[in-house]
Amino acid sequence: KTKVTTRRLIEMKRRGEKIACLTSYDFTIASLVDEAGVDLILVGDSASNVMAGNLTTLPITLDEMITYAKGVTRAVKRALVVVDLPFGTYQGNSKEALASAVRVMKEAGAEAVKLEGGAEIRESIERILTAGIPVMGHLGLTPQSINKFGTYNVRAKEEAEARKLEEDARMLDELGCFAIVLEKVPAALAQRVASQVSVPVIGIGAGSGVDGQILVFQDMMGMNHGFSPKFLRRYADLATVINAGVSRYVEDVKNTDFPNADEQY
Ligand code: KIV
Ligand code: NA
Repeated sequence: KTKVTTRRLIEMKRRGEKIACLTSYDFTIASLVDEAGVDLILVGDSASNVMAGNLTTLPITLDEMITYAKGVTRAVKRALVVVDLPFGTYQGNSKEALASAVRVMKEAGAEAVKLEGGAEIRESIERILTAGIPVMGHLGLTPQSINKFGTYNVRAKEEAEARKLEEDARMLDELGCFAIVLEKVPAALAQRVASQVSVPVIGIGAGSGVDGQILVFQDMMGMNHGFSPKFLRRYADLATVINAGVSRYVEDVKNTDFPNADEQY
């Protein structure tokens, strides 16, 4: 059960060993996810939707991300813990980007940060890397840019966008990012990117030709019935399990079945 490092993930790609990743936003789930053997845990800004109930990832703040990340790093013993830099904390100014990344490392005990984008945020990535902070890239569907694209549909289906994505991926590799997330792009393109870069490509809705996979924990465990993209495989139906348990509890309280004689002092 040796600790996963960024170097180890790169070695796994070289060996052809697939990398299993999931999100977590809290201590309890992160403990379970880590114990089950996931290689990388992402404190995603999807917490904005999943934990805070926002419609997009844009409103979540750096302070909120740090609070979520603290619970995760307190729990995790083996997986590499990566934290998303939220919208507005890294794009315009590389010094602000470094300050944001430093806060996540220092206050939350993260081991790496993830940023959305390619050439547009090159300076920010470079400056964060100069501080010895590992950076994970994120290309394809980048939810922080939803207002630019207007939809959460598959990205890079057209030649020009696919070419830019390939260039961005090569740039992230050359800059020294330790891994790249590819979200919702055609499988053939994702496979081509994975073959062109030296670091692991972690896919979500990017097919099987990449070096690893990531899903949002609450989605893959079936905690919400509303979100059903084609790429999502459900490994449990926790929404049904939780609803049944809570309903029984309510019933037991109402009809005074709970607590019984053995459940009191
Ligand atoms: O925020 C998130 O959960 C993510 C993953 C889906 C890659 O960025
Ligand atoms: Na994210």
